[in-house]
Amino acid sequence: MHRRKVGIIGAGAVGATAAYSLSMMGTCNEIVLFDIAEGVAKGKAIDIAQSSHYAPNSTIITAAENPADVNECDIVVITAGVPRKGEMTREDLLMINAKIMKSVVEDVMKYSPEAVIICVSNPLDVMTYVIHKMTGWERSRIIGLAGALDGARMAYQIYNRLGYGAGQIGTLVIGDHGQNMIPLPQKVQVGDVPVDELLNREEMAEIVERTRTGGAEIVKYLGTSGYYAPGRAIAYMVEALLNDSKIVVSSSVLLQGEYGYNDISVGVPVILGKNGAEKIIEIELDEETQAKFKISVEGIREGINILKSNQFFE
Ligand code: APR
Repeated sequence: MHRRKVGIIGAGAVGATAAYSLSMMGTCNEIVLFDIAEGVAKGKAIDIAQSSHYAPNSTIITAAENPADVNECDIVVITAGVPRKGEMTREDLLMINAKIMKSVVEDVMKYSPEAVIICVSNPLDVMTYVIHKMTGWERSRIIGLAGALDGARMAYQIYNRLGYGAGQIGTLVIGDHGQNMIPLPQKVQVGDVPVDELLNREEMAEIVERTRTGGAEIVKYLGTSGYYAPGRAIAYMVEALLNDSKIVVSSSVLLQGEYGYNDISVGVPVILGKNGAEKIIEIELDEETQAKFKISVEGIREGINILKSNQFFE
């Protein structure tokens, strides 16, 4: 029987939480963690492996000594990157993380050439695009974590306002995974009830705003970004891929004409199955949403253009 193996490159807060979540669910047979910082992957792998003693299925969790040990994976999750610090400009950060991505992706191509890649590193949509350019793989195999997280954050805000419907709130967030993300309240349902039957325009406007700033709110309290929700959202995507469950989740994927755009990675609803993002679902966008989507795309293009002007792709 085929053993299900997941590689996680970058065993920081998000990568390790994804591994923990996967091991608690018993989704795969094997998880291998790699991190450039010495000891990090080893320490976390041991800790998570010990926790899995009480999980429903046993999962083998190991640390890779070097990138070659992350081999023959069905899925590789990439969270490697550095956070923005002190004097760093947005451009500096972009260049640093893009270079990290380049070296990581070279290894993935070498050692897990059949994998589906889930990109988590920020700026998410630009990094997802970088992976497309580096690999040249079919686009279905490169998926950026966006709507699975932002949608959960939106559902949380709606539940907080309503006080009921937990686990029943269907949300949709498209666009970039950053300041111009587009939560779509008009598409939300609680149970089977359209949310506009339950909340008024002002309440929904506040929910949209809180969804957009949901990540920053956690930073305000913790001094670091969240990792439980991102980690669980990654695991949710991995489960969908490994189980070929064909669920619909908004994710950052390469557009080739869909929504009127080409050669850009941005969040749109997709169907997740064993081959990755198997199909992009084109929903009807009203004029206002189209304008917001354009702003999202332009922001991502700006990032890509910074890389181009630094000869990154040459
Ligand atoms: N190869 C492997 N690991 C690397 C590399 C590399 N070339 N470069 C950096 N790393 C590792 C770091 O050592 C660190 O352990 O990536 C890890 C990142 O983890 P954290 O700094 O804890 O960041 P985290 O909160 O997990 O976020 C990871 O996800 O949501 C995004 O913006 C976030 O890009 C960030 C990523």
